[in-house]
Amino acid sequence: MNDLLKGKRGIIFGALDENSIAWKTAEAAHAQGATFTLTNAPIAMRMGAIQELGAKCNAEIIPADATSTEDLTELFEKSMDVLGGKIDFVLHSIGMSPNVRKKKDYGDLNYDWFQKTLDVSALSFHKVCQVAEKSGAMNEWGSIMALSYIAAQRVFPDYSDMAQAKALLESIARSYGARFAKINKVRVNTISQSPTKTTAGTGIKGFDVFYDYADMMSPLGNATAEDCANYILVMFSDFTRMVTMQNLMHDGGFSSSGITAELIEQLEK
Ligand SMILES: NC(=O)c1ccc[n+]([C@@H]2O[C@H](COP(=O)([O-])OP(=O)(O)OC[C@H]3O[C@@H](n4cnc5c(N)ncnc54)[C@H](O)[C@@H]3O)[C@@H](O)[C@H]2O)c1
Repeated sequence: MNDLLKGKRGIIFGALDENSIAWKTAEAAHAQGATFTLTNAPIAMRMGAIQELGAKCNAEIIPADATSTEDLTELFEKSMDVLGGKIDFVLHSIGMSPNVRKKKDYGDLNYDWFQKTLDVSALSFHKVCQVAEKSGAMNEWGSIMALSYIAAQRVFPDYSDMAQAKALLESIARSYGARFAKINKVRVNTISQSPTKTTAGTGIKGFDVFYDYADMMSPLGNATAEDCANYILVMFSDFTRMVTMQNLMHDGGFSSSGITAELIEQLEK
């Protein structure tokens, strides 16, 4: 299908490199006729890869630290300017935990870092929604998405304080979804994605083993970043207008599986 998002304007956060879920989403949204701006933290821009994506998608790049409401306000204003109107879709594809990065044990967390985890990975989503509301930036029936992980509901030890960040993120999607629906029918959702080989993903201790385990535990296998991008596009499209305040499992069936034949076979070896 072509032109699923024709005429729609958006903002895509979090394309770090070609493995990023946001990167795949930008490529797919461009192919489906959307116009959008790309943004990332100023520090992440130094690597330069996002320039390449911008050129490919004909998208302007506007740096913004997602924890700064000032940066976000400027981002929304500039995006409306550049794109020539209000915004139809926003992808928040942001996550970072200093405790995970520095491999802190869960019983020995640094609380300043914990707050940083929550600020970058969850509160930034509230800030994005609040700034979008205050700037009057969203079109009616717009769609705002963030990416979550099943560690919000179940324990995956090495996910550490990111589990709390994801629980908060999903809760914000429900509360802001209720509010934005009443303001101008904007929907707010999260997608809970399979483990994916990206910079954020592979930064988790034991990721490779865990990735293989999840693959075996999912009847359809792990969902890739490209699969995730396609699902995000559907959520940006007019085909999902009545879906809001949801955490949508995009995991090849992982979340509904107790055990699978593949795993039994593996354990019997
Ligand atoms: N990779 C996985 O296994 C997996 C699984 C489920 C959910 N997710 C979620 O998907 C989202 C995207 O991650 P990804 O896997 O594509 O990895 P990624 O490392 O490519 O993307 C993470 C992005 O967050 C950005 N970021 C960090 N701090 C920021 C700040 N202060 N302001 C603005 N941007 C900031 C980074 O620059 C980077 O672009 C994250 O929310 C992540 O938790 C990932």
